[in-house]
Amino acid sequence: MRFPPIFILIFLLFLSCKQGPKISDKKVPKNPDYAEIGMSYAQETQKVLGKTLMTTIQEKGVVEAVKFCNERAYPLTDSMATNYNAHIRRVSDRPRNPKNKADASELAHIETFKKALASGDTIVPILSEGNGKVQFYYPIVTQALCLNCHGTPGKTMAPDVIQHLSQLYPDDQATGYASDEVRGIWSIVFDASKSPD
Ligand code: HEC
Repeated sequence: MRFPPIFILIFLLFLSCKQGPKISDKKVPKNPDYAEIGMSYAQETQKVLGKTLMTTIQEKGVVEAVKFCNERAYPLTDSMATNYNAHIRRVSDRPRNPKNKADASELAHIETFKKALASGDTIVPILSEGNGKVQFYYPIVTQALCLNCHGTPGKTMAPDVIQHLSQLYPDDQATGYASDEVRGIWSIVFDASKSPD
């Protein structure tokens, strides 16, 4: 049996549509809302981290607290990474751990957040989508507590802490901060093609 040419044409058009370029700047899907998921992760982790750091510093001292400023200590990382096929990192333009070095596009986002913070703008996450992935970026801002380990040696940082840190991180770039500075960013990649429904 033969199909009339018009059917073949329609069929070919249909095929060519499916094979057309992916729209990379389409809106982030409402369900799941990656902006919301990313934000709740960032906020929740910041809260837990802040609390853990504070109590550990008070009870056991700064040196003992050093191990808590490590993403492996974050309780939510695993469950969120599994639920949303997320790859979660904390990266910085001035990393303490060389593994947390920001790449070129992350560096650009850090600059954007620095400008936004300096001009007093409301900080909103940066989202971008393409190739079935959603990328989420949100700044990690310093507060007084952080300066025990990211501040100025001799002022906010005690000598034993400096010594301990320099043994663990010989290439440490993460000192010299004041409060309310962009210390780094959350960089989360969601695999949207495997998102839960
Ligand atoms: C008790 C010491 C200590 C305190 C307090 C502390 N940090 Fe850290 N921070 C570290 C250590 C150690 C690392 C390296 C962790 C690793 O090896 O991944 C680190 C790493 C980081 C990183 C990842 C990027 C990098 O430089 O490797 C960010 C972001 C960060 N800290 C932000 C903060 C913020 C914000 C605060 C305050 C809420 C804070 N830290 C308080 C010790 C501390």
